[in-house]
Amino acid sequence: MTWDELESACGQCERCSLCRTKTNTVFGTGNRQAKLMFVGEAPGEQEDLSGIPFVGAAGKLLDQYLTAVGIEREQVYIANILKCRPPRNRDPLPEEQDACMAYLREQVKLIKPQMIVCLGRISAMRLIRPDFKITKEHGILVRKGNYVMTAVYHPSALLRDMSKREDMYKDMKRIRMYCDEYMAE
Ligand code: URA
Repeated sequence: MTWDELESACGQCERCSLCRTKTNTVFGTGNRQAKLMFVGEAPGEQEDLSGIPFVGAAGKLLDQYLTAVGIEREQVYIANILKCRPPRNRDPLPEEQDACMAYLREQVKLIKPQMIVCLGRISAMRLIRPDFKITKEHGILVRKGNYVMTAVYHPSALLRDMSKREDMYKDMKRIRMYCDEYMAE
């Protein structure tokens, strides 16, 4: 599948009921040759309105962490498990995740990143392990097939709980160090 085919299929998707309540599909943005990919949970209000992932308050905080560790947002690719906003930002339902995962899988196949960073619990439980515990396991690097994977706190969790911010900074620094040491240009 090409990027155009994938984006167009995703834009016309009716595999779950979220297509009836969304404003825009939030496909994903960034460098399609990225070595580093971030995967969040689902679009929020600002993302639904703009069609771009992580542009609301949580996205601005994510940008600050990227800047703090010297990673440019344009260098990486950012997507979500769900491409359409769940009403009132409720957690994605398992059947919505099942319906949407094929798009993310195709994105990963096209990008072939070296490292995938899950943003938050929902993404980590879907992409790393169903019983992933974000409080205990954030920042740990694991190899899964062709990819090195890790999970960090979701930026929305950091907006609610300042005490997690130091851990987030450490985890992001570790990600940056891994990129510098192990990722070929
Ligand atoms: N939260 C997410 O998980 N993804 C977004 O794109 C925005 C907020």
